[in-house]
Amino acid sequence: CGIVGYIGTQIATDVLMSGLEKLEYRGYDSAGLATVWEGQINYLRAKGKLYNLRDKLSQVEMPAQIGIGHTRWATHGKPEEYNAHPQLDPYGRVAVVQNGIIENYRELREELKGKGYEFKSDTDTEVIPHLISEFLSHLSKPEPGSPSVFFEAVRLAVKRLDGAFAIAVLCADYPNELIVARQQAPLSIGLGQGEFFCASDTPALVPYTQAVVSLDNGEMARLTPLGVEIYSFDGERLNKKPRILNWSPTLVEKQVFKHFMLKEIHEQPGVVRDCLNAYIHDDWQVPETSKTSKSATVNKSLSPINLNLPNALCEGVEQVQILACGTSWHASLVGKYLLEQLADLPTTVQYASEARYSPIPLRPNTMTIGVTQSGETADTLAALAMEQQRRINAGAAFAPRLLGITNRPESSLGQMVPHLIDTRAGIEIGVAATKTFLAQLIAFYLLALDLAWRRQTISVSRLEEIIKGLRQIPSQIELILSSHEQDIGELSHDFSDTQDFIFLGRGINFPIALEGALKLKEISYIHAEGYPAGEMKHGPIALLDDKVPVVAIAMPGMVYEKVISNAQEAKARDARLIGVTPKTSGESAEIFDDLLSVPEVDELLSPILTVIPLQLLAYHIAARRGLDVDQPRNLAKSVTVE
Ligand code: G6P
Repeated sequence: CGIVGYIGTQIATDVLMSGLEKLEYRGYDSAGLATVWEGQINYLRAKGKLYNLRDKLSQVEMPAQIGIGHTRWATHGKPEEYNAHPQLDPYGRVAVVQNGIIENYRELREELKGKGYEFKSDTDTEVIPHLISEFLSHLSKPEPGSPSVFFEAVRLAVKRLDGAFAIAVLCADYPNELIVARQQAPLSIGLGQGEFFCASDTPALVPYTQAVVSLDNGEMARLTPLGVEIYSFDGERLNKKPRILNWSPTLVEKQVFKHFMLKEIHEQPGVVRDCLNAYIHDDWQVPETSKTSKSATVNKSLSPINLNLPNALCEGVEQVQILACGTSWHASLVGKYLLEQLADLPTTVQYASEARYSPIPLRPNTMTIGVTQSGETADTLAALAMEQQRRINAGAAFAPRLLGITNRPESSLGQMVPHLIDTRAGIEIGVAATKTFLAQLIAFYLLALDLAWRRQTISVSRLEEIIKGLRQIPSQIELILSSHEQDIGELSHDFSDTQDFIFLGRGINFPIALEGALKLKEISYIHAEGYPAGEMKHGPIALLDDKVPVVAIAMPGMVYEKVISNAQEAKARDARLIGVTPKTSGESAEIFDDLLSVPEVDELLSPILTVIPLQLLAYHIAARRGLDVDQPRNLAKSVTVE
């Protein structure tokens, strides 16, 4: 879900709607807003996407200069208007928007019902305005040190809530106060000139201000026309310095592209270039001593990769544990391959939502990596927190070595882990991850090379070869985008009615088969499965006939011939065969009915290229089907509930 708030001199609903548009990627099954005007709360809610709310808004007058807004991804209760936010207290005096889940809402609901409060929604949120209302009815004057009765009532209510939440609250009797609170769900405050904003993510703030204060867990703030005061949940006044975002508002605009996803696919060459430039020393030369050294391994002191990771994190590591969800989990599978094959480090990759209930056996010297594009995924943050605590409890030998990989260094992940690789991809708006996935891959290549260097598990010549190969990647992606996108667009016509797809890959391209299938199902709603090519014969082959296209990733290298044989097996069952393979791969490629051509590269680097035509294929099929590519049904970009 996304929340926004405004207090200042502009018409609040204009600012709120523009903020909600920027946050719609966080959830879009209903939306709403509330303002305070002439001593009353005015609110509007609409089921479905934001344009429904916009329609309703165009029919009413809401001139207030204070307001809150919400775009919802349903957790408790169906996406109906009565479950949309804001949720109000029974007297219509308090309005609340919330992101997250109140875990003890059942208990609070019973307690409040016992006091005569009626509930009109199925949401967990509704307990909050009721609780605030209850405290308001008992407080006559502010507690010493507390700025207002309204603030105090919100503070006392918040202290009763368990779970992860960010809220923004208005009260009809306090027309110049907007109160916000954060507990495990992101919330930032934007500082303007005589106007103040709040939002669950910074894109909503960027068009108005670049000066931002992010609340930490257990903090709340009181926004008035005069300024912003920050407090702890215990009422202690806090001093926090704003940071300046150096974001250009164009990052959050579509520019010439029809969809954000297409724009972000096209940003990938630049993203890879930025990431490589940031972390590989330009002037790196193979040290002479290493060239002549018998072992042909490298000299530890002259690493070509500079990820700024301290020795305390990297030295003596014996295994790596990666926690992630969704597309980030796929990037992590490629990471595992690289860490094992290049740096000789046994690596586990777990879904963050599973890891908490089946933690890996506790061993010393384990590096724990959290990978997330939003930096806010609740499952990933919770799994990391659990791992951290488990390791602290186990004593010094098991001390946590936490590393984050994200494009959002300012996110909750960034605040939580001591070390971070910023993938430099910036914010991504399309719900289906593309450029952030690619940037995570690059981060894993760099990390694996850095660790391989430190551990002396790679030869100088291999290291040089890989770095040289990486530097060619941006122009190779450009080539795919400029030479083959049109063909992929045309090919996509053939699949507008297809119901099932199979994606096959082996070795380092198996995770890309998973990612190709995920992209397609997320945005085109076509059922798709990714399989290790060799496993097809052990099950999914039963699904094949002439209606089920098979996409096989066949890149020259160790597994090439094997993938071609597996593709043959599919062809023998009448499947239409689409090959992700270089045009140059000769006769064996003749088995394919269609080619998604990619330049020939070192097999180890091939996932960075093979994923590009699969992103384009998913995009063009979905766009041809007329679907909402950037905001596919039921999904959200940033899932802040577990
Ligand atoms: C959501 C998104 C997916 C994403 C996953 C993990 O479900 O829709 O595209 O891969 O979360 O997100 P993260 O921000 O942790 O990478």
